[in-house]
Amino acid sequence: MQPINPVHVIAKKRDGLVLTLDEIAAFVSGFTSGTIPDYQMSSLAMAIYLRGMNAEETAALTEQMLASGTQLAWHPGYSIVDKHSTGGVGDKVSLVLAPLLACCELRVPMISGRGLGPTGGTLDKLESIPGFRTALTLAEIQSITERVGCVITGASAEIAPADRKLYALRDVTATVASIPLITASIMSKKLAEGLDALVLDVKIGSGAFMKTREQATELAESLVRTGKRTGLHTTALLTDMDQPLGRMIGNAIEVDEAVDALSGNGPEDLVELTLRLGAELLLAAGKASDIKNAASNLRQHVNSGAASEKLREMVAAQGGDLDAPRARAPAHIIAAPRAGFVHTIDVKALGYAVIDLGGGRRKMSDTIDHSVGLEMLVRVGDAVTSGQPLVRVFAPLEKLPEVKTSIANSMTIRERQTQRRPLILDRIRGDDLP
Ligand code: URA
Repeated sequence: MQPINPVHVIAKKRDGLVLTLDEIAAFVSGFTSGTIPDYQMSSLAMAIYLRGMNAEETAALTEQMLASGTQLAWHPGYSIVDKHSTGGVGDKVSLVLAPLLACCELRVPMISGRGLGPTGGTLDKLESIPGFRTALTLAEIQSITERVGCVITGASAEIAPADRKLYALRDVTATVASIPLITASIMSKKLAEGLDALVLDVKIGSGAFMKTREQATELAESLVRTGKRTGLHTTALLTDMDQPLGRMIGNAIEVDEAVDALSGNGPEDLVELTLRLGAELLLAAGKASDIKNAASNLRQHVNSGAASEKLREMVAAQGGDLDAPRARAPAHIIAAPRAGFVHTIDVKALGYAVIDLGGGRRKMSDTIDHSVGLEMLVRVGDAVTSGQPLVRVFAPLEKLPEVKTSIANSMTIRERQTQRRPLILDRIRGDDLP
């Protein structure tokens, strides 16, 4: 390969021209090994942020980021599947879905993340379980997945190291919100899991990264198209994040809600979304004839108690004890100021209220208080009477004044009834895209 001159590559992108595969390969490997300095890579990230990338460039960037690290290889016999969510408030689907899929003879090596902005992180939630380890080695990921059927862990240093380094740079150069860069970041890590099928939950709304349907569709299409080009069966659902998912927002209380869901006592929206995402994977793996049949297979494992037992098994394999008590801070009620119907919920404000209580991070070095959080007692469209409890806040009493006003202001109540919000808004499959 010709030695690369980063300045030429950056200028090309700046002028809206297409990068070659060799240029992208040289840039990613040079950046990962340290021969290309951060300031040059920042320029390229900004050029991509401003000019975008076409589908071919995005797939090449994804493949090169994948090639910067290891790709898991699996014994034949089982389909390897995973779900990825673009992040939401109250989103504990992974905790319910991974054991459910493992009960269906699928293997789920789920690599998850930490909270990002107002959205919670699966790893933070799981760490409220005493003893639970989220930093597994590749050998542990492989052996627990093969023995138990599922694992939920952070990305080890061997998985797409180029993404780890580039993400840190994007974070400080305001280049996170770029569809090709997000696509390559997510898909390189998912491809590194050695998957046969992936389902994406692309959230839209006040509690999501993507605020409009247009933005979410663009991201979903980019992810699905990249899956198609890189040989990974990928389907995306666009789902509502204009109200939290389920009732609980926090860490320990979200684990509690996931445990309840696996025992058949989950909130309707959480159950609906989990079964639908799982059904997409069962269908992709050839384990069901249609979505309805797939969802009913999944439900059987809840009813039999097998899925609940599978979560306990996974937690134990990762050093945790699901039966050990999880701390829950004292409860306080925030009540409706007047009668009417819940019209809107500012989900982002609720996510930040949990961070203010100590349940999330403002900066990476912050420690998390797993015991705090919010329980939503109403949903959009519900009728409320004056003084009716709207939110239960789990927090030490002295923290309550900090969040009381923002939580109360996060909901609007109107006299006229508001339409209930549909949860699943669209489905995008590789076959639907050119
Ligand atoms: N999540 C990721 O893994 N990468 C991004 O770039 C954004 C969200």
